[in-house]
Amino acid sequence: MVIVRIPDKNIKIEDAEEAAEYLSSIGIIYERWRTDNPVSASSTQDEILAAYSKEIGELKKSGGYTTADVININENTPGLDEMLNKFNKEHWHSEDEVRFTISGRGIFHIHPENSPVVSIEVSEGDLLRVPKGTKHWFDLCEDRNIKAIRLFQDKSGWTPYYVPEGVDRKYQPMCFGPAYIRH
Ligand SMILES: [Fe+2]
Repeated sequence: MVIVRIPDKNIKIEDAEEAAEYLSSIGIIYERWRTDNPVSASSTQDEILAAYSKEIGELKKSGGYTTADVININENTPGLDEMLNKFNKEHWHSEDEVRFTISGRGIFHIHPENSPVVSIEVSEGDLLRVPKGTKHWFDLCEDRNIKAIRLFQDKSGWTPYYVPEGVDRKYQPMCFGPAYIRH
């Protein structure tokens, strides 16, 4: 379930509907796709795409996305740090960033033009659409593990354009999901 935080205002939203409403006010589309998980940890990319073919088809139609794939990142992924360093600095793309989380967790920070930075912790069942041109950055949670469906309008448009003097360093990528609560 999604956890939205506005660190500068000390606000935390854990209700999915409330989160969707706030995110839509800053142009970010959040949806809970489905709660019954039709795939398992051993499902292949093709099995995952087949299990979600209806949802993927609808998204493709509504957003003009042409391709979908599955990204599977964990502690053992070769070049993980390099990959993360590419996306954990403030940037934007010339196409939407669309991610449906199958398992694991990740944290997006969004830097809207006229409102405070928002952190969005996503996990299983969360769909996030970050429209093209939106300034954002991405981190993994401490366990460094996420599996997600990605949709693209055109893969070549998915280059990060970095924001000079990005504000990313002012925000800690803190995750609050059940596994991260310390006692
Ligand atoms: Fe990005």
